[in-house]
Amino acid sequence: MNSQTLREARKYEEAFEKLIPAEARPQFHLSPRVGWMNDPNGFCIYKNQYHLFYQYHPYDAQWGPMHWGHAVSDDLLHWEYLPAAMAPDEYYDKDGVFSGSAIELPDGRHLLVYTGVMKRTVENGQMKEFQTQCIAIGDGIDYEKYEQNPVMGTDVIPDGCSKTDFRDPKIWKKADGTYRCLVANRAEDGSGQLLLFRSFDGIKWDYQKVFAKNNGRYGSMWECPDFFELDGQAIIFTSPQDMLPEGFEFHNGNGTLCLIGSYDDATDTFTEDHVQAVDYGIDFYAMQTILTEDGRRVMIGWMQNWDTAGAHDRNEPWFGQMSIPREIHIKNNRLYQNPIREVESMRTDKVEHKDVLIKGENDIRHKNSETLVNAVTLDQIQGRCIDMELEIAPEDINCMYDKFTLSVACNEKFHTDIVFRPKENIVKIDRKFSGSRRAVVHQRRAHIPFRDGKIKMRLILDRFSMEAFFEDGAYAMTATLPTDISCDGIFFSTNEDVRVNITKYNLA
Ligand code: FRU
Repeated sequence: MNSQTLREARKYEEAFEKLIPAEARPQFHLSPRVGWMNDPNGFCIYKNQYHLFYQYHPYDAQWGPMHWGHAVSDDLLHWEYLPAAMAPDEYYDKDGVFSGSAIELPDGRHLLVYTGVMKRTVENGQMKEFQTQCIAIGDGIDYEKYEQNPVMGTDVIPDGCSKTDFRDPKIWKKADGTYRCLVANRAEDGSGQLLLFRSFDGIKWDYQKVFAKNNGRYGSMWECPDFFELDGQAIIFTSPQDMLPEGFEFHNGNGTLCLIGSYDDATDTFTEDHVQAVDYGIDFYAMQTILTEDGRRVMIGWMQNWDTAGAHDRNEPWFGQMSIPREIHIKNNRLYQNPIREVESMRTDKVEHKDVLIKGENDIRHKNSETLVNAVTLDQIQGRCIDMELEIAPEDINCMYDKFTLSVACNEKFHTDIVFRPKENIVKIDRKFSGSRRAVVHQRRAHIPFRDGKIKMRLILDRFSMEAFFEDGAYAMTATLPTDISCDGIFFSTNEDVRVNITKYNLA
């Protein structure tokens, strides 16, 4: 039986989604049915469809008491909303149904594993928050919370492990049919660690050990873990809070971390080899992955960041989007990511410009930061819902350009720039003039090795976002854009002659 709280949320979302015109949303990136969205949750395949749940506050475009929103898709690009899956309606999750994961049970039922948040007054009169892991079982639409929740209570974790920061369970099934679950937690020194639990039925869980540990290196609390094997290596994804920048890595405050190592299946032991950030842009967090039927590991993330997510107009009817799903690989000891190949079936109106010379004198200047002059445009290269490949090379290697700028989402006033600096091996994204009225972070630089001044990029624009993949996916930079949809110009400029190859499609 669905609770009154869930019934109300379902009624509300059904009524209020109607007030959001389709053009006011991204075309193929999932946004909340109404209100606020953060982390992807329960990303899985169930009954031959992709299911994606999400942290959801239907009643406001700001974070609030968390529900699980729900959508399904056949291709990970066209999503259909289903009714909200869970609401904060039990004593153990009354203050939030936080992030988690999903799996199909052998009998065909769908198991959701999530964090229940409960605040209560403790002995000294202080209000304290407790987080426990809970389950709900259902048929892909309706879910029943388990009557003996929580299934991983704070009583089972060893002394010294935080009972307040104990969340975001990630479940997987091993080849022998048993289950494992990683839960994010904080150690005594306040730094993040991942706790491993084991189960024979997905319902009753035993604590095993600390699976991975921050040791004071990468931020504080580690949120939203994922674990999987890929291309012969073992990977942990997590999203740490309070990260310190290191060189060009980890500039996001709440950042993303990919630990690459090995895994001993018999003893459930992960050995870390090296780490990197997952995305080098501004808006990417809390990623989860699935394994598709044809064996691809696909990642999706929340296309936002906590430091700027609050700085928007709360009167908007929706806020928050997922990234494009990305196929991931490990190559040369690095994480590679590219848009899922299904996006190719959305391509229309192919435009190609081969070997085009962009003359060096055409340096874009924004007079008073406003009017664009000397911009180079190319026939039919424009749009806000596009898939564009760009190869840049210096015309003369002895006259290397210092700075090549691609500006997107432009009109005379607004633009967002991707700036290529081969002499420094730097690519910068800059959305200062994207129409934002907030003094939040608008720029990010990544260190990307150029090849004698050459570099490749694939750019996906979907109305209110840009996702740039460099050098066949070795680096990704993601940012949301507030720019009015009518600004669809694309401009080029460089201080020395450059040759470009461009292939561009509209996505429909
Ligand atoms: C990460 C996170 C999770 C938590 C959820 C709450 O973005 O803080 O750790 O479960 O969001 O909405």
